[in-house]
Parts: sequence; structure tokens; C-alpha cells
Amino acid sequence: MIWLIGCNGNLGSEIAWLLKRDGIPFCGTDSSVDITEYETLKAYTADKSLEWIVNCAAYTDVDKAEDDRERAFSVNETGARNCALIAREFGARLIHISTDYVFDGNTAVPLSEDAPVNPLSVYGKSKEAGEQAVREVLDDYYIIRTSWLYGRGGQNFVNTMLRVLKERPLVKVVCNQKGTPAWARDIASVIFQIIEKDDVPFGTYNCSNSGETTWYDFACTISEEAGKKGLLPLSCAVLEACTSEEYAARAKRPAYSVLSKEKICRTLEISMPDWKDSLICYLESLCDD
Ligand SMILES: NC(=O)c1ccc[n+]([C@@H]2O[C@H](COP(=O)([O-])OP(=O)(O)OC[C@H]3O[C@@H](n4cnc5c(N)ncnc54)[C@H](OP(=O)(O)O)[C@@H]3O)[C@@H](O)[C@H]2O)c1
Repeated sequence: MIWLIGCNGNLGSEIAWLLKRDGIPFCGTDSSVDITEYETLKAYTADKSLEWIVNCAAYTDVDKAEDDRERAFSVNETGARNCALIAREFGARLIHISTDYVFDGNTAVPLSEDAPVNPLSVYGKSKEAGEQAVREVLDDYYIIRTSWLYGRGGQNFVNTMLRVLKERPLVKVVCNQKGTPAWARDIASVIFQIIEKDDVPFGTYNCSNSGETTWYDFACTISEEAGKKGLLPLSCAVLEACTSEEYAARAKRPAYSVLSKEKICRTLEISMPDWKDSLICYLESLCDD
């Protein structure tokens, strides 16, 4: 049995969709089975036979985490450790999801899995602590680092842009942070393949779409492509580029956090779709609704 933790979020809901599509039995939980409480997890899993645990649950509000450090660490570090402890007890394989925000972004080349980490924000620090907790508890694990994630299930940049572009006359977006968007369905498909193949070497893997962009160029593409598909009115907000210093978000973010996907692509013998193609597919899926 597969236990999918965080099954209603951006990523979890896409994994759930794939598992349902293929009739693979799984149990999915959200925050009502709180990963910060070890005894709750023990009680929930007592009558289950777990082979895989996929932990998509996290405290993901990057700015709010700056003022909510305790809860961010509780979910992202203690929660990750608790998932690893349960995996160890069951002899189950753990797939734990992490983030490009474990890096400081002081580079201009795509980051490999063994690039040095140096998170800038509370969120990044708590996720890095979660990675360490998983590595302390388990000899064998999968840590999948993704970036700029979006999908149907949760709050994310694409859905926010689709909303604010309708509501406001002017939207300012940061133009000096580079990264790669990740459509949750593409990342879910990679996780699904790891489970299906059953013999993928353990370790840390980076996974996002291919290519790179800035938040501003990403927003322009969302506006243009959503406009073509009728998801936005003909006349909507003007996008204005600004620097991260001008934008002054509560949390500091890496200036460059493009992940190298070479390892996951070589291991699974796949290529990751280009971020723009995947964005178009995602917007099409919204039109189908
Ligand atoms: N979003 C991004 O841009 C991004 C980028 C890089 C990496 N990541 C990582 O990717 C993973 C998935 O992110 P996402 O965007 O899919 O997350 P999300 O949409 O915010 O969903 C988080 C899920 O976790 C659950 N959850 C939160 N606190 C919990 C707790 N204490 N116990 C149990 N479940 C809890 C939520 O349950 P409820 O539905 O009940 O609230 C929800 O199902 C996370 O590890 C995140 O750090 C995300």
C-alpha cells in the first residue's frame, strides 16, 4: 500500500490522480493526520501495510514562515523526521519532497544534487533541516527537490497570476530571480515512475521542467497564453518588472535556483518537458473544466 501524505496540495493531488487513474491502491491524508504528531501517525498506520510513503506535506508559505518559524520547522523538519521514522518501522520506502530554496542562488549554472546548500529563508532552512532529518533516520530514501511548483491543487504563482491579472490594473513581478517552473503533473509522473520501476537507486534527485526563466517572464507567458485561451479578458492588468529589492518580499529568495535535471533524466531515461510547453498544457487543462 502507498501512503500519500499531503494528498490535496499542488503535487499530492496530481499524484493521487495518477494513482486513481491506474487503479493503484493508496491512502491519502491531509493536515487532519498531522505529521508533526508522531503518535497520530502511529495510530493512523497501525492497521496498514505500507510499502511506500510519499511525503508531499509541507509548510509552504515562504513569506509567512519568516514570522512563524516554530510551525514551519515543526511541519518541515519534525514532520519529515516522523515520516522517516514510520517508514523505518514498516521497512517502507520514503519519497520526501524538498525544494530549490535550500540553495542560496549565488551561482549562474544549474545546481546539481551535491551543490552546497545554504538556505536564505526560514522556509528554506526548515526544508533543509527536513532533508537532514530524513538522512539521519534512513540509510535509503528518495529526496526529490523541485522548484516553482504549480498545479490545480493548491496556491501557486500561476493561479495567483490568473486571479490578480483580472483584479488589478498593474501587477509588479520580480525580474531578477531565475529558476524553472514545475508543473505538478510532470513531477507527479516522475514520482509515479520511481514507484512503478521499483529499482531506482536511492538518493537525492532534482526535478522540475526544463529551461529557465524569471518570475517576470513567467508572468508574461502566463498572461499571453491564458489570454489566447480565453482564460483572461482581452484587457487585463499591465505587468511591470521590478527587482527583488524593490518588491521587498518578507523572505529572501535565491537569485538563481535552476536545478540540473541531468541525474533524474539519466536514471529514468526520460527528458523533462520544457516549462513553457507544460504551462500551455496546464492552461489547456483549466479550459477543459
Ligand atoms: N509550491 C512550491 O512552489 C514548491 C516549490 C518547491 C518545492 N515545493 C515542495 O513540494 C512539496 C509539495 O508542495 P505543494 O505546493 O504541493 O504543497 P501545498 O499545495 O501547500 O500542499 C501541502 C499539503 O500538505 C498538507 N499539510 C500541511 N501541513 C500538514 C501537516 N502538519 N500534516 C499533514 N499534512 C499537512 C496540506 O494539507 P491541507 O490540504 O489539509 O492543508 C496539503 O495537502 C512540499 O514539500 C514543498 O515544500 C513546493
